[in-house]
Amino acid sequence: MRTSALVPAAGKGARLGSKIPKQFLVVSGKPILIWTLETLAKAYPFQEIIVAADPSRHTFIQKWTRKARLGSVRLVRGGATRSESVRRALESVSPKSQYVLVHDAARPLASPALIQKTLLAARKTGGAICAIPESSTVKRVNLKTKTILKTEDRSQLYLAQTPQVFKKEKLLERYRQLGAKAALLTDEASFFDGTGLSVKIVEGEPMNIKITTSEDLERFKLVAGKRK
Ligand code: CTP
Ligand code: MG
Repeated sequence: MRTSALVPAAGKGARLGSKIPKQFLVVSGKPILIWTLETLAKAYPFQEIIVAADPSRHTFIQKWTRKARLGSVRLVRGGATRSESVRRALESVSPKSQYVLVHDAARPLASPALIQKTLLAARKTGGAICAIPESSTVKRVNLKTKTILKTEDRSQLYLAQTPQVFKKEKLLERYRQLGAKAALLTDEASFFDGTGLSVKIVEGEPMNIKITTSEDLERFKLVAGKRK
């Protein structure tokens, strides 16, 4: 089934706080974005890989995708929020693709097998994401008073990761229906909450971290150093 990979890479990395956005930091010889793109290219013969990034970074990305011999990478302008970046990439997807796989630039450690499993699961239901079961005890908190309202039932909770795979037309339709509300959503699966589409959960990988804090970056540096 023809599938395009969409890679939101237009974030500023405020929580990490480095001068250069985290996805462009060079770790063990290449930018984090390139680690991510190489894994995607290894996992599946995508129709195309579309990266949404700030135009001021496009030359830098092109230089590195050429160096890494990543064939069909296309660049589009990123948006002010993650979902806006994904929308821009989605709007430029080839008409040949029936499915889209969205994967964060900041998740360089997803395995090719995980990407393949998620693609396969989405073929059956129209949508699948990888996620890991919550292992902590989770509290709902009154943010004003910082007191506990209740303890959630952990056994029903999963933490969403990417990749997330959907039928292209279904995701486009939800972008149209949600309008401005789409800007607030932080993953693709949220677009389908309450719509009746069964989004399948594929067991994610603990290693598939989203580099968010400096601790995450240190962890990635260790792994990348060993893989190099
Ligand atoms: N992203 C994007 N466009 C935005 C915001 C985020 O394409 N306007 C991308 C990021 O580049 C990242 C992914 O979405 O690959 C997940 O977002 P997150 O981890 O929140 O990254 P940042 O937004 O860059 O980090 P922070 O929230 O700490 O600023
Ligand atoms: Mg963010």
